Amino acid sequence: MDLGLTGKTVVVTGGSKGIGYAAAEAFLKEGAKVAICARHEEELKEAAKTLSQYGPVYYEAFDVVDAEYNYRFAEHVNQKFGSLDVWVNNVGVSGPKKGDEYDDEEIDFMTGVCFKSVVYGCQAAFRYMKKQHSGAIVNVSSLAARCPSAGRSTLYGPLKSAINNLTNTFAGEYCPYNVRVTCIMPGFTLTPAVKRTISPEELNMNTQATLLRRAANPEEIARPIVFLASSAASYMTATTIEVSGGRSMTLNPSFAYDRLAAEQK
Ligand SMILES: NC(=O)c1ccc[n+]([C@@H]2O[C@H](COP(=O)([O-])OP(=O)(O)OC[C@H]3O[C@@H](n4cnc5c(N)ncnc54)[C@H](OP(=O)(O)O)[C@@H]3O)[C@@H](O)[C@H]2O)c1
Repeated sequence: MDLGLTGKTVVVTGGSKGIGYAAAEAFLKEGAKVAICARHEEELKEAAKTLSQYGPVYYEAFDVVDAEYNYRFAEHVNQKFGSLDVWVNNVGVSGPKKGDEYDDEEIDFMTGVCFKSVVYGCQAAFRYMKKQHSGAIVNVSSLAARCPSAGRSTLYGPLKSAINNLTNTFAGEYCPYNVRVTCIMPGFTLTPAVKRTISPEELNMNTQATLLRRAANPEEIARPIVFLASSAASYMTATTIEVSGGRSMTLNPSFAYDRLAAEQK
């Protein structure tokens, strides 16, 4: 299937590693021109160098929490590649804290990275997509929007949940300009950082609670992101899809995987 991405300009925020990197690679393999950003310049430069084997890559190091940097990045990308067709708001962070442990500074930090950056990204993209009368924005939320991580990273779920709502709200505002806004909720994903830091107990706990009995690889999240941005999803806007290996399904206490599995034997 032709995804209609050949020659299109795609921005992926947080493209130096993890899901963002996998998405950048997947877009390039579809023939797109890709721009990535992240804070750490050396790592970003290295990622851009590796990615450039698949197609044209532009990079800029900055913090997405700063509105002006987002707007300037959009301007530079548009100058460099001549259009701005897709914007993926991928940056996000989960802080391992309980609700009563956050101080004001940490609340601002979480809100900035997980929520404000997505607003700025949408605004930056829309400036150009509005003029073009076309475009697709994909926001990266989390399954935590649906299953909040109480007792661990308390603010992450509510902020991701706000992104789901923001997606629909911006979709409503941008639709007269033929700009679609969609969202993806990944489940547990084995990015290099997660692989490095996760304990065997936590990995086991997560895989046991997933219908497919394993965590996702970043590429398995990247492909649905590419799909949402592509012409294959041309009738999709104001929608959020869950890509979690069936994690929500096991929240139902009457679901009995072990019994079902035993019946197969
Ligand atoms: N991995 C999972 O299990 C999982 C599950 C559900 C949802 N998600 C969501 O998926 C997205 C990507 O997650 P990931 O696990 O791939 O993350 P990751 O491996 O930690 O990568 C994050 C990327 O964002 C960049 N970044 C972080 N803060 C930034 C900032 N303030 N400004 C600019 N760039 C910034 C990082 O580079 P620098 O550090 O150099 O800035 C890096 O390129 C996030 O929104 C996350 O919430 C992840």
